[in-house]
Amino acid sequence: MTFNPIALIEKKRDGGTLSPAEISDLVGGFVDGRIPDYQMSAFLMAVVIRGMDDAETLALLDAFVKSGDVIDLSSVPGIKVDKHSTGGVGDKVSLVVAPLVAAAGVPVPMMAGRGLGHTGGTLDKLESIPGFSTQLSEAAFRTQIETVGCAIIGQSDRIVPADRKAYALRDVTGTVPSLPLICSSILSKKKAEGTDALVLDVKAGRGAFFEDRARALALAEALVSLGNRAGLRTVAYLTAMDQPLGFAVGNWLEVAESLEVLGGGGPEDVRRLTLSLAAEMLVLGGKASTVLEAARLLEPLLDSGAALEKFRDMVRAQGGDVSAIDRPDRMPAPAHTAAVRSPVDGWVAGVDARGIGLASVALGAGRIRKEDAVDPLAGIRLLKKISDPVKKGDVLAVAQAGRKDAVDRVLPSLSAAFRFGGKPAAPMPLIDCRIGPSDVAAESDASFGDAALPKTADRESRHGK
Ligand code: URA
Repeated sequence: MTFNPIALIEKKRDGGTLSPAEISDLVGGFVDGRIPDYQMSAFLMAVVIRGMDDAETLALLDAFVKSGDVIDLSSVPGIKVDKHSTGGVGDKVSLVVAPLVAAAGVPVPMMAGRGLGHTGGTLDKLESIPGFSTQLSEAAFRTQIETVGCAIIGQSDRIVPADRKAYALRDVTGTVPSLPLICSSILSKKKAEGTDALVLDVKAGRGAFFEDRARALALAEALVSLGNRAGLRTVAYLTAMDQPLGFAVGNWLEVAESLEVLGGGGPEDVRRLTLSLAAEMLVLGGKASTVLEAARLLEPLLDSGAALEKFRDMVRAQGGDVSAIDRPDRMPAPAHTAAVRSPVDGWVAGVDARGIGLASVALGAGRIRKEDAVDPLAGIRLLKKISDPVKKGDVLAVAQAGRKDAVDRVLPSLSAAFRFGGKPAAPMPLIDCRIGPSDVAAESDASFGDAALPKTADRESRHGK
């Protein structure tokens, strides 16, 4: 009998539960072209509205993984651990975490993404290093993890093609914000890259994918529950993305700030979040039994330059110009810069991460259309963040880009991203809570400054909107 997807679309539309075989047929038919985009779009919308239970979501994840190659890293000794962020502004943690954790002896296979909307992308950042290639063959990826200990690459056409095709549809049909669709999309790529374990940084706040804390927490819990059931040891952190992370937003600017952190300095928030996530990776990788013990192993790797040396090795292995790493001050200066200044005396009460992210995209650091080229030097340097005192006329931020019109155009919105108050704002906790399965025995007392990190249990659920 010819396969008829209409009955499956109707079943989901009416709140029914699909079997793994039905889900596999749908995904298979979509990838080989038997199911056209309009039918898949209708199905995706039915999932957004009706949700999927855990068994359906796991079947979708599995069908996605099976739509393409799965990288076999079994020849690489040790437990492989990746880290993934749901996306933020100024979030350069992956650039530091991968070499840091590799320097501690845990192999890190990382398949990263490009900037999406107002958020930056790890691949765009790395490609601001002259010569750096994010397109490695599967064999070269495996070899580099064996020899260097870490590699950061883009997704090839052969990895999870079903997600690539479905995501392109979701992007233009209002079907992105659905927990089962997001979880199967993110986790299928992690399964296919060959990692054994995963630390997730799920952001909440103005600059996050989910601004609302409750929705971001539900996403983190669903990812942890499904990741573990899919055979990936998964832990998540819920972290604040109300103001940008660090002081640098933009591709090369963020690489330069990462080099500072890798060398033992850099902004305190970037270092703290990096150490927290890296410590979880070390526990998952079997190199420490608590995050506190892991932190004691990791801090000297930043402070001694060992993590920076590992980053240098990764850059060299991926064809990048290491002189840019050794002497970042010799990178070309941006052609145009302009400052925004405080209109008042007082304290900074808010730095809208979304506004800053959009301003950075408008400067050329991100894309408006998929085919746009990014300007590696474009971006924003923040000089003031929440709780800082300011005097009228103080520089709040500097915009930079290759095009003067882009810099001029962005200044009003950059200025509007800052809010002020008459007294110092209470510092916001960067790390909200940790979500992990009970058998992952990390202690929650080493959150590097956000004392007594609360912990929520993982749970099974029906994943609605
Ligand atoms: N990132 C992904 O990779 N997939 C989603 O569905 C959402 C964010």
